[in-house]
Amino acid sequence: MIENETIKHQLNHRAIRAFKDQTLSEEQLTTLYEVARHTATSMFMQQFSILHITDEEKRKQIREITGQKYVGANGDLFIFIIDLYRNQQIRKQMGNDDGRLHTMDIFFQALQDTMLAVQNVINAAESMGLGIVPLGTVNDDPKAMLKVLDLPELTYPALGLQVGVQIKNHN
Ligand SMILES: Cc1cc2nc3c(=O)[nH]c(=O)nc-3n(C[C@H](O)[C@H](O)[C@H](O)COP(=O)(O)O)c2cc1C
Repeated sequence: MIENETIKHQLNHRAIRAFKDQTLSEEQLTTLYEVARHTATSMFMQQFSILHITDEEKRKQIREITGQKYVGANGDLFIFIIDLYRNQQIRKQMGNDDGRLHTMDIFFQALQDTMLAVQNVINAAESMGLGIVPLGTVNDDPKAMLKVLDLPELTYPALGLQVGVQIKNHN
């Protein structure tokens, strides 16, 4: 089997749910966002957005929705949003109507963009020695999530991702 630094980190992957009371540095955040931006994207549409949830009250509300006590407790919490709204606004500015934005195939295209960006960010975070846990439970109550995040139409919170410095010997 081929061994290199990337593959070593990928093979060492495991979900981490206990983080130190420490947030990511600006440099770490910028790096993760740049990695997300450089992810392969269908037709170069980049149909996703990343929300970095820093407000304690919102973190608490999201924790309640997920029913998982570690969500938003320590570390940095991100919600990856399927975002067709931004391209709708760009189309509007260019004098175009919504085109195929309301079709299922564009929705799935946006979902695929979003998920690839999540995994790319996971690989980058783990390569920096950080721990991560994806959070599908942000979908446990979609109406409540949409309210907490105050999202516009044509957006959907697809997956959460918590990133942080792992507490040693705790998953
Ligand atoms: C799409 C997705 C959603 C997930 N949602 C949650 C979640 O809501 N809460 C959680 O604790 N772990 C969540 N996980 C982490 C999985 O439980 C974990 O990846 C799986 O048990 C395999 O363990 P490993 O990642 O340590 O190899 C999720 C993983 C994926 C890929």
